Amino acid sequence: MIKKIKNICCIGAGYVGGPTMSVIASQCPEIKVTVVDINKSRIDAWNNEDLSKLPVYEPGLAEVVLGARNKNLFFSTDVESAIIEADMIFISVNTPTKTYGIGKGMAADLKYIELCARQIAEVATTDKIIVEKSTLPVRTAEALKKILDNTNNNVNFDILSNPEFLAEGTAIDDLLNADRVLIGGEESERGNMATQSLVDIYAHWLPKERILTTNVWSSELSKLTANAFLAQRVSSINALSELCEVTEANVDEVARAIGSDSRIGSKFLKASVGFGGSCFQKDILNLVYISKTYGLEAVANYWEQIIIINDHQKRRFAEKIVKTLFNTVSGKKITILGWAFKKDTNDTRESAAIYVADYLLNEQAEITVYDPKVTKEQILADLDYLNTRSENENRDLVTVVNDPIKACEDTHAIAILTEWDVFKDYDWQNIYTKVYKPAFIFDGRRLLDKEMIEKLGFEYFRIGN
Ligand SMILES: NC(=O)c1ccc[n+]([C@@H]2O[C@H](COP(=O)([O-])OP(=O)(O)OC[C@H]3O[C@@H](n4cnc5c(N)ncnc54)[C@H](O)[C@@H]3O)[C@@H](O)[C@H]2O)c1
Repeated sequence: MIKKIKNICCIGAGYVGGPTMSVIASQCPEIKVTVVDINKSRIDAWNNEDLSKLPVYEPGLAEVVLGARNKNLFFSTDVESAIIEADMIFISVNTPTKTYGIGKGMAADLKYIELCARQIAEVATTDKIIVEKSTLPVRTAEALKKILDNTNNNVNFDILSNPEFLAEGTAIDDLLNADRVLIGGEESERGNMATQSLVDIYAHWLPKERILTTNVWSSELSKLTANAFLAQRVSSINALSELCEVTEANVDEVARAIGSDSRIGSKFLKASVGFGGSCFQKDILNLVYISKTYGLEAVANYWEQIIIINDHQKRRFAEKIVKTLFNTVSGKKITILGWAFKKDTNDTRESAAIYVADYLLNEQAEITVYDPKVTKEQILADLDYLNTRSENENRDLVTVVNDPIKACEDTHAIAILTEWDVFKDYDWQNIYTKVYKPAFIFDGRRLLDKEMIEKLGFEYFRIGN
């Protein structure tokens, strides 16, 4: 019989667990949803009365949380109780690139996933459906099953793969109006029933035809492939942006021309200083690693090029700043507008800004940063994490301010690294009066109106023409 889910637990209250569970709770009022995390300050922030203090910034998220929190949506650090009570457990913990041992710098580090599986195995007393929400290498469900099945408490576990396709910055809309939801299940009677239980949850708000079911391995591999294809488009247009700069072609015009071809499509063709975010790089590296593991060198090399071009794009943008500023930025103030990896999120993981800043700091620049949603602590932590220089040096050389105009005062150059809409509306005429001349702007997002900016007197460089 198909299990009617009454109680959901989600392990991991991050950028995926928080928003996805908030939406499930809001759409399924009869289901109790508990999101658990070992990070107490994160849970406290999810429970904060002041919704501007939620740990994840996403347009529309605060309203969804407000509507369901403490009704059928709960945030807690009591992982064990939530596991015991749940019929269905989503695992939504982080799966970063390994930084040690075999597969270092490429393979996904599955230690957090394994810990979850072991904890579930240890405390569960009733049958559970385990849902892989984290992005995982293909065939991870096999490993999970081995751990879960090696308990002696007669509990049955069914494992489903249900990768998340939301994009940060539009997470709530992506969840409510998903193009598709993918559910991979075991091809057996039990597997089909488990799959149907999860289909029934999404069917609360999504049309049935958008809920795709596959075998577990196709589902796991599809998530890595989706990110690889998306990142590939960015790297493809970014590679062309460099060619545009030397041929007087305009990358936006090229993007429009090719994007109007329905076989290609218009999305993800915006040239930029390079993609960031916690997923693209790590998932492609993971795909490369898996291909190598199976001895498929040509396949691995093909996908690795996406990362190589992306690193090149970040580096050449930073180099352009140095070259333009008369081959030295030593002792010069450079203002960075935008630190988040894209607009409408406070997430900075793998943001291009981190690498551009690091390059400029190596050239002895003094950096001032302004981002509407990112804290000073986060910016300094991102630079410290690179381990390029001491924490004290980072604090000596980097200033974070919460006023964009102040950030631009007495600066030798402004670099735009996140496409926040508000940057377009700044009083650029006023800013022009406050900066050193020649007044340079390096637009890594093609955000500003070139004609207007140049009319004001700025020397304006943007990626792609
Ligand atoms: N961020 C995205 O846009 C996105 C989109 C789709 C898929 N994903 C995937 O979803 C997964 C989660 O990503 P995220 O961005 O939400 O990560 P995150 O780092 O924001 O959140 C993960 C959370 O899991 C918690 N955690 C780790 N181990 C735990 C344990 N044993 N028990 C309880 N809590 C534990 C951490 O404390 C952390 O708060 C990753 O696999 C990622 O690849 C992310």
